[in-house]
Amino acid sequence: MRIGIVASEATPFSKTGGLADVSGSLFKVFNKLGNETYLFLPYYKETRSKINDVNKGSKISIKIGGKNIEGRILSKEISKGMNIILIEQNGYFDRENLYGTKEGDYTDNAERFGFFNLAVIESIKLLNLNLDILHLNDWQTGLIPLFLKENDMRIKTLFTIHNLAYQGNFQKGILELLQIDEKYFNIDGIEFYNNLSFLKTGIVYSDFISTVSPTYAKEILTEEFGERLDGILKARKDKLVGILNGIDYKIWNPEKDKNIYKNYSIESLDLKKENKFYLGQKLVLDFHQDPPLFGMVSRLATQKGVDILVEALKDLSKKEEIRVVILGTGEKNLEEGLKALEEEYKSKIRVIIGFDEPLSHNIYAASDFFLMPSKYEPCGLGQIISLKYGTIPVVKETGGLKDTIDNFNDYTQCGNGFSFDEYSSEALANTIKRAFKVYNDRTKFNNLRKVAMNCDFSWENSGKKYLELFKKMMR
Ligand code: ADP
Ligand code: GLC
Repeated sequence: MRIGIVASEATPFSKTGGLADVSGSLFKVFNKLGNETYLFLPYYKETRSKINDVNKGSKISIKIGGKNIEGRILSKEISKGMNIILIEQNGYFDRENLYGTKEGDYTDNAERFGFFNLAVIESIKLLNLNLDILHLNDWQTGLIPLFLKENDMRIKTLFTIHNLAYQGNFQKGILELLQIDEKYFNIDGIEFYNNLSFLKTGIVYSDFISTVSPTYAKEILTEEFGERLDGILKARKDKLVGILNGIDYKIWNPEKDKNIYKNYSIESLDLKKENKFYLGQKLVLDFHQDPPLFGMVSRLATQKGVDILVEALKDLSKKEEIRVVILGTGEKNLEEGLKALEEEYKSKIRVIIGFDEPLSHNIYAASDFFLMPSKYEPCGLGQIISLKYGTIPVVKETGGLKDTIDNFNDYTQCGNGFSFDEYSSEALANTIKRAFKVYNDRTKFNNLRKVAMNCDFSWENSGKKYLELFKKMMR
């Protein structure tokens, strides 16, 4: 098959979160399973240093509002059957960040990603790509199924929802800017509470819809998780599937990871501890009595459960010999809340605000436990990465966290992590205390680590599920 993947970020070219890991992995996986793959991305500032020798191909000119906006299609076959296609438009994409600043989203995001969607259509035509499938990801690609229809291009589309809460809703005026016919602006089409919704457009006009775990695929049909789109999702239920994300074990492997202080394996767990001491030294945290280290690497968004975490840690830090390292960036109030907590418990808690790939690897390697108390979580990769590093996840039972983490049972000794059901700081604190107890029983804890490290969430299985779906779509 000839498969196009369209995303607003993909490793190693651009990244703010898990979407990048997933689209970057699928690019390789589809190819490895015998398909010609094309990955479409915006050419951001941060992408420049990640790729060289791109072919400065065709110029494009796209009508936005009354103006013709010029851009270019850059391309490169990075290995056999793997082609990257970058949409260059410096006014839109040559910026410090991908989507916005601390002050909020860029105010022209509808225009930026509208342009991106139109440019993808142009590229497919200009480069004669003859695609069988277009795999679209999240709201930033949501208008593509509609543009395909308008252009009478019969490529089958799968629209994957990585997070239903990010919808790309904009004022109706955007219709004119992107020259979308008013006839689509109704409740069965692209209109969403009197706005144009990129996400809803993707849901309505794509051939199939998927999301990133089986549990989240069910959850989004309910009012609680449906983000006001549960109605339309229910109407398309027979075209909706949940396919669990995997991770790339070539990138995430404690035996080979070049970012970490000491490589280790299931056979040499003693070396894992050296990573903990090293990080302790770097971050001025005292590990003398060997207290457990709880790590967290996360976008700081309400979704991630930062509110209950702060409450739980306040309580625990008073009473327990606990250490915590949090790396994240995002909403200002959450950053400030965490920084205030650090200030209060300086000897126990370290909060690093920023996006830091190498440090993230060191946290996965050094920690004993990984915190992910998300209110909701479509899939989550942090907990899957942690398992591989023998770092035991502490999670709320929701979405993909539920599909990947089995709560440890002290009697049967089964399970690969610790989980809780009720979204509250008490439930989280109690779960951390349970983890603490097991940590103090070294035989139990080491066995649990081994179980975690033996879990396999490689892409092999899920990649095949995507391909089966593509074949079904083409029949
Ligand atoms: P989400 O996509 O909702 O952000 P996931 O758990 O699916 O959550 O994926 C998060 C990915 O982003 C992981 O690869 C994680 O290591 C990475 N990540 C998140 N925040 C940071 C950060 N501040 N620095 C480095 N990597 C980060
Ligand atoms: C989103 C979700 C996360 C998921 C990731 C990749 O950002 O929040 O749960 O793992 O996409 O699919």
